Amino acid sequence: MPEIRDIKDADIENKRTLVRVDFDVPIAEGRILDDVRIKAVIPTLELLHESGAAKITLIAHLGRPNGKTVESLRLVPVEARLRELTKVPFEMRENLRFDPREEANDENFAKELAALGDIYVNEAFADSHRAHASIVGVPKFLPSYAGLRFMKEVDKLREAQTPPVGSVAVIGGAKFETKEPLLRNLLSAYSQVLLGGALADDVLKARGMPVGESLVAEVGVPTELAGSERILVPADVYLEEEDDKGSARAAMTGDVRKEERIVDIGPSTAATWAQKISEAPFVLWNGPMGIYEEGYRAGTDALAVALIKGGARAIVGGGDTLAALRSIQDSTLKQGSSRPDLDEIEKSGRIFFSMGGGAMLKYLAEGTLPGLEALTRR
Ligand code: 3PG
Repeated sequence: MPEIRDIKDADIENKRTLVRVDFDVPIAEGRILDDVRIKAVIPTLELLHESGAAKITLIAHLGRPNGKTVESLRLVPVEARLRELTKVPFEMRENLRFDPREEANDENFAKELAALGDIYVNEAFADSHRAHASIVGVPKFLPSYAGLRFMKEVDKLREAQTPPVGSVAVIGGAKFETKEPLLRNLLSAYSQVLLGGALADDVLKARGMPVGESLVAEVGVPTELAGSERILVPADVYLEEEDDKGSARAAMTGDVRKEERIVDIGPSTAATWAQKISEAPFVLWNGPMGIYEEGYRAGTDALAVALIKGGARAIVGGGDTLAALRSIQDSTLKQGSSRPDLDEIEKSGRIFFSMGGGAMLKYLAEGTLPGLEALTRR
């Protein structure tokens, strides 16, 4: 396996370090709703500072401003939060994606960024599936290294590529056409792949089941995948009619009416899959089981409870999946008075919470990422 240049091996003393971080965090009315991605870079910043870096300059993006300045996507609140969390001195540049040259991977922009440092550190695993200037352009001009968290993400995902026998992968979300290579890889390594979200609609449709008005991909599911007994789809679902929102009914998957759409896995499926998660030696999970952003969260929450309460080792990624795990309160878990401490769970090593959503899936589908290739010693 090609070796990634690790920041632990870099000569940092008296070097100006340019660090690409992933600070794409949820913000509402200037308030940061989740700072886990900000906290994740602190060990690397401390290492750089303690190793005598002459200066630390951070570069990051927030949201998708499409190459224009968008006031609500300025990095000011993120910078303020980081200053509260660490005493390490740093300078932070404004949102990279305000400049259209970032996403265009413009070479001059990469050179301008590279001029800010003597060495470059990629501590933005979650963005490393993007061939953008700050991810793949800058490493052409500076000695480049992976940050501590980046290295950990890769180590953990490498583990997920060879899970123990009996392991289970849980995949939600949409876009079958982009997830097909991922599903093929998972099927070769995992005993069962549990599909939720619109991906399940696609397989149900391919198996001749009615899906009504549910979201489906434009491309069909190949027969060998549709026919695989190790790809599990929900046996029951929650259904809703477009003009009757908020009154979802549970039904067997064969009973979907043509005016209905599937909005979540059903209670019986949630219970069966929760059991599988509790019993598996290892679980890989990315993506919600229902239309999470519209509030259809019961299926995802049930699996999250099973994962937290159970003993399985796991790797979990994706914004909605992590949000589900974080939002589970003791009333759901019925154990004690405080919500489960995910930091403690992660420290124990049982569950790894990947910072990458799309990056995690692309890594598992292709075994590498553009940003990782840019840091690889050949
Ligand atoms: C993420 O939030 O997963 C990363 O920051 C990537 O964001 P993007 O999908 O806008 O490139």
